[in-house]
Amino acid sequence: MMATRAQQRTDRADPIRSGEQGRDFEFTSADFTRIRELIHRSAGISLSDHKRDMAYSRLARRLRARGLDSFRQYLDLLEAENDPAEWEAFTNALTTNLTAFFREAHHFPILADFVARRAQPVSVWCSAASTGEEPYSIAMTLIEALGESAARQATVLATDIDTQVLAKAEAGMYQFDQVKHLSQERLKRFFLKGTGPHAGMVKVRPQVRAMVRFEQLNLTDRDYQLRTQFDAIFCRNVMIYFDKPTQAQVLGRFEPLMKSGGLLFAGHSENFTYVTQAFRLRGQTVYELTRDAAGARAPARAAATASSTPTSGVTV
Ligand SMILES: C[S@@+](CC[C@H](N)C(=O)[O-])C[C@H]1O[C@@H](n2cnc3c(N)ncnc32)[C@H](O)[C@@H]1O
Repeated sequence: MMATRAQQRTDRADPIRSGEQGRDFEFTSADFTRIRELIHRSAGISLSDHKRDMAYSRLARRLRARGLDSFRQYLDLLEAENDPAEWEAFTNALTTNLTAFFREAHHFPILADFVARRAQPVSVWCSAASTGEEPYSIAMTLIEALGESAARQATVLATDIDTQVLAKAEAGMYQFDQVKHLSQERLKRFFLKGTGPHAGMVKVRPQVRAMVRFEQLNLTDRDYQLRTQFDAIFCRNVMIYFDKPTQAQVLGRFEPLMKSGGLLFAGHSENFTYVTQAFRLRGQTVYELTRDAAGARAPARAAATASSTPTSGVTV
């Protein structure tokens, strides 16, 4: 997508131009608008206006790597070349990957209790796995709830759009600081302590690592190519980056991938109630399928509730 002449004229008068902010590269409002459109199209991510500086600093590395002078050149090249590797680097640069072991801790006892009552072997999908802390926390919870041998039969699929975080996740190595809040029992049972050049690091034990399969998956893809159903899906702290139509599409794709009685775990600030009729809140940001709860769905009631709220508008 080339900038129009009118856009270029506006850019020249743009007060946020690079030189005025002491930046290395020219970065205009039109560039930022274009970045927003491209990342929305490729990853569903809606970048808010205050992410402008973040977009500059993260993508400036790509300009340096490619020996380019301006963001316009970079974005022209990204679109013209259509090189999957550059698109991957662009996407990796703009994702936010904050995560932690046993983050939103109240979910894990719910998961433990749930899997202990399910037909075995259970399967769990962690759909925005980032650097691995979340899927490993899920695997550890399965071991605690089911015992080592039943947990070994379980599957934890961990996916993310960002290939860089997936590589870190697969390595399973973390700073000790990232696990120091865990109980001594969990530390001993699930981690190996680094020595020598790895002092100050920990490694997830092989039996935990072996339970998790990592794969790249873009939640905005039409077909996830998953031919299995899950007892539980974790989709935490990623929907906040998507607009409501994208959230609705993702939830619509989750529905057939859930086994009957399955649970969907959401992030603390994510509310799917007005986005979908396929899931309903069970409590504590855990959702269940409405088709299980009601036999058949009650669309009239759900639609009426949705239309009475200002954030509704999108349903699946
Ligand atoms: C803030 S992290 C959340 C990690 C973890 N679920 C948690 O709650 O701690 C958001 C993750 O979503 C991933 N992500 C963003 N857009 C995505 C997409 N379209 N498909 C799959 N993953 C995506 C990012 O790469 C990032 O690792």
